[in-house]
Amino acid sequence: MIVAALVAAPVVATAQDANLARNLAATCANCHGTNGNARGEMKPLAGMAAGKIVAMVADFKSGAQPATIMHQIAKGYTDEQIKLVAGYFAAQQPSK
Ligand code: HEC
Repeated sequence: MIVAALVAAPVVATAQDANLARNLAATCANCHGTNGNARGEMKPLAGMAAGKIVAMVADFKSGAQPATIMHQIAKGYTDEQIKLVAGYFAAQQPSK
């Protein structure tokens, strides 16, 4: 029984991370589109390399990259949350 629980634990953690990543990414959807597929002027995040998203958000957070709104948004997330979100968007298919 204990062995089974230990073996199952990483699987559960991964499923929770995936749900968390999707839920966090949904908070970006208002502006960046569902699953990062932006409409109109907004830049799409879908399919962008995770490392690039993490770096861009970090630059918004630090103020290195001037922004109208993203500098404020970026401050609302931990580095760990941004990594999860970035991984989620990187895995999405760009629709155009
Ligand atoms: C209120 C609208 C809004 C929300 C919510 C939002 N963004 Fe943004 N995002 C913008 C705008 C506007 C820009 C362009 C830079 C600026 O002026 O702030 C941008 C730019 C970006 C860029 C740079 C894209 C590029 O190619 O230059 C990234 C990466 C990004 N956002 C990630 C995110 C992530 C991740 C989230 C969710 C955690 C998020 N954004 C939530 C409005 C938003």
